[in-house]
Amino acid sequence: MKRKIALLLVIFFMKANLSFSQNRVDDLMKKMTLDEKIGQLNLLSPGGTITGTMQNTKVGKKIKNGEVGAIFGLKGVEIIKKYQRYAVDSTRLSIPLLVGLDVIHGHRTIFPIPLGSSCSWDMDLIKQSAQIAAKEATADGIMWTFSPMVDIARDPRWGRIAEGGGEDPFLGSAISRAMVEGYQGNKLDDSKTVAACVKHFAAYGAPEGGRDYATVDMSKVRLFNEYLPPYKAAVDAGVATIMTSFNVIDYVPASGNKELYIDILRKKWAFEGMVVTDYTAINEMIAHGLGDLKKVSQLSLKSGIDMDMIGEGFVKTIKESIENGALNESDVDRACRRILKLKEDLGLFDDPYRYLDETRQNEIMSQENRLFARKMASESFVLLKNEKQTLPISDSKKVALIGPLADSRRNMLGTWSVSGDHSKAVTVKEAFEAWLPKENLKYAKGANISDDPIFAKKVNAFGKEIVIDERSAEELINEAIEVANQSDVIVAVMGEAADMSGEASSLAHIGLQPSQTRLLNELKKLNKPIVMVLYNGRPMTLNWENENMDAILDVWFGGTEGANAIVDVISGKVNPSGKLTTSFPVHVGQVPVYHSMLNSGRPELGKYQKFKSNYLDIPNTPLFPFGYGLSYTTFEISKPVYSNTNLNAGNSISVSVDVKNTGNIAGAEVVQLYIRDLVGSISRPLKELKGFEKVFLEAGESKTVTFKIDEELLKFYNSKLNYQAEKGQFEIFIGNSSNNVTTQIIELK
Ligand code: NOJ
Repeated sequence: MKRKIALLLVIFFMKANLSFSQNRVDDLMKKMTLDEKIGQLNLLSPGGTITGTMQNTKVGKKIKNGEVGAIFGLKGVEIIKKYQRYAVDSTRLSIPLLVGLDVIHGHRTIFPIPLGSSCSWDMDLIKQSAQIAAKEATADGIMWTFSPMVDIARDPRWGRIAEGGGEDPFLGSAISRAMVEGYQGNKLDDSKTVAACVKHFAAYGAPEGGRDYATVDMSKVRLFNEYLPPYKAAVDAGVATIMTSFNVIDYVPASGNKELYIDILRKKWAFEGMVVTDYTAINEMIAHGLGDLKKVSQLSLKSGIDMDMIGEGFVKTIKESIENGALNESDVDRACRRILKLKEDLGLFDDPYRYLDETRQNEIMSQENRLFARKMASESFVLLKNEKQTLPISDSKKVALIGPLADSRRNMLGTWSVSGDHSKAVTVKEAFEAWLPKENLKYAKGANISDDPIFAKKVNAFGKEIVIDERSAEELINEAIEVANQSDVIVAVMGEAADMSGEASSLAHIGLQPSQTRLLNELKKLNKPIVMVLYNGRPMTLNWENENMDAILDVWFGGTEGANAIVDVISGKVNPSGKLTTSFPVHVGQVPVYHSMLNSGRPELGKYQKFKSNYLDIPNTPLFPFGYGLSYTTFEISKPVYSNTNLNAGNSISVSVDVKNTGNIAGAEVVQLYIRDLVGSISRPLKELKGFEKVFLEAGESKTVTFKIDEELLKFYNSKLNYQAEKGQFEIFIGNSSNNVTTQIIELK
C-alpha cells in the first residue's frame, strides 16, 4: 500500500513538473512578438567553426536585438558568458541562448575518429567517451553537440566516412544509441551532460561518386533497411535534436523534404525534439533549383524544420511570407515552441549560466581523461597483417622509425577536432622515445605525405598538415635508408594527413600517395622486417603494402594519446582487438563493396567466368572484409549449439558458442552473428550483421557467448515498406569476421 502511494506521488510530481515546464514555455510564447519568435529560429556563429562560404557578421548586435536563438563555434566559459549576457541582459524577455559546438570525438581530450572507435566494437567504451566529451564540453560552456554522425557509408572516396561508424546499420544503430546515452545521460538539465544532435538526416553518406554534397539516390527499400536505422536508434534513445543533410532524397533537398521530416520523423517515429539545418542548407536549396530564398525558407519551415543554421533565411523572409499568406504564424509557433522546450529541458530558464562555471576547468584534459583516450585509441586499432610475429617488437631491438607521420604533431588528432589542441598531442616519435632506450631508436622522415604542392595547399586549409621538406625526395629516402640500415626492424608511419578525410575531402585515389610508395619500395629492398603503421580516415587500397609489408597496423587517427597507444600495441603491452567496420577494397573501381550486398542473378562462384557478375581485372571480394582484424593471440570458436532450428513466431531460439583463447597472452575477440534470409518477397542481402559480442579472455580461458534469435531480429522493410519477417529458411552465420563463419539453416515457421 505504502509503495503504491509513493509511486502515485512520484507520478503526480513528474506530471506536475512536466506541466510546469510546459506552462513556462506556453507563458513565454504568449508574451512573445512574431519577431521574437522568428529570432529563436536563428542559429549563428560568431566565428570558430566555418564550414561554408557564408559567415555571420555582427552576431553580438543581432543577439541584443532578439534576432538569435542559438550560437555555435565558440568554446570557453568567459567568451560564451559574454554572449549569453547579451541575450539575458539586453533582450526584452531575457531568453537564454542555446550554445552548440561540434564535439565529435572528444572535446579537448581528443579520442580516435569515429570510424576508428567503431572498430573497437565496444559500446561501453564508446558511451563512456561521449560521457567524458560531454563533461569537458559543459565545463567549457557548451550544452549542445552536433554529434553523433551516424551516416552509413560504403564509399571510401567520401572523406566523411571518417566521421561515422562504417558500413553496417546494425552496428551503426548500436553506436548511435551508445553515443546519445553517453552525451545526454539520464537528465538533460544535468550540468555535465549535453543535448545530442544526430546527423545528417538522411542518407548523406551515399553521395554519387563519393563526392561530398553530391546527389543521393536510392530505393526506399534500401533507405529504410540500410540507411535509416541508426537515426531511428538515436530517436528511440531520446536524442534531443536532429540535423538535416545537404543532399537530396528523391530529388528534394533534405532541408525541404516533408516526407523525411514530417511523414517519417514526426509521424512514423514520433520524434518530438528540435530539427536544425546543416550549415546554410536552406540557402543551398537555391542552387539545388528550388527557388529564391523566400521560397526555400517557406519550404523548409513547412517541411518541419525548426532552426536555420548560419544562412539567416528564416529571419530574413518568414515575416513577409506570413504577411502575404504563404506561411502561418502557427508554423513559427511550432518551431519556436520546440526550441524553447529544449532550453527548458536543459535548465536554461532556471539558470542561463548553469553551463558557465569557471571552477570546472580542472575537468578538462585531466590525466584520467588522457588515460581513457589512450585505452580507447588502442582498442580502435586494427591489426591487418602480422607475418612471422613481426609484432610485437621487443625493446631490445634496434628500431628505425621512418615516415612522414612519425614526427607530425599536427596530424595526430584527425579531422573534426575543433577544440583539440594539437600542441598537447603526443607524436609517435615522442612515444617511441619514451619507450625505447636511446641507442635503440633512430628516426628519419623518409618522405613527404605528398610531394604535390597544389594538393598540399588544398589539404592544408586548416593548418600545415602536409609539410613539403626543403630536401629532395632522394635526400629524404637516402637518409631513411641510412637509418634503416642500422636497425633490426623498420616501423614506417605512413598514410593520410588529418584533413585528407573529413568534410569536403573526397578523394579519387585512395591508396598511399606516390611519395610514400616510393619510400616503401626502397625500404623493402633492404630485406629487413617492416611494420607499417597506417594513419587513415578511410579504407585505403593496400594491395602492394599487403604483399610487401610484414605487418600492418591500422591506427586511424587516434587523437591526443594515439601515439602512446601505438607504442602500447607495438610493444605488446596491449593486444590489438579492433575489427574493421568498413570493407577495404582491392581497387577503387570495386566501390561500393560491402558485406551485405545482394546476390545477383549471375553470382561469381569464386573465380572469373564469362557471363557471371565479375570483373576481368580484379576480384569481387575486398582485400580486408568487414569484421576482420587480427590479434597477437589465437582464438577458437566452437561449433555453434542451437536450442532449436525451428523458430515459431512469438518464441526465440538461442545459439551458443564457446570462445577460447588458445594462445599465450590475454586478448579480446569479437564474435559476430550474421543472417541471410534465403527466400523472400524481395531479394535479401548475402549477409546481414544481427549480433556481436566482444569477449576479453586470459590466455587459455574460454567463455560462452549466446545470441538470441527471434522474429524481431529477422524483420525487414518489404517493397510496401511494411516491417515484417517472412516465414521460411534463414542461414545463420557465426564467426570472427564476415568472411570466416560457420553456418546453419533455421526455419521461421
Ligand atoms: C557542416 C557539417 O556538415 C556539420 O556536420 C556540422 O555540424 C556543421 N557544419 C556545423 O559545424
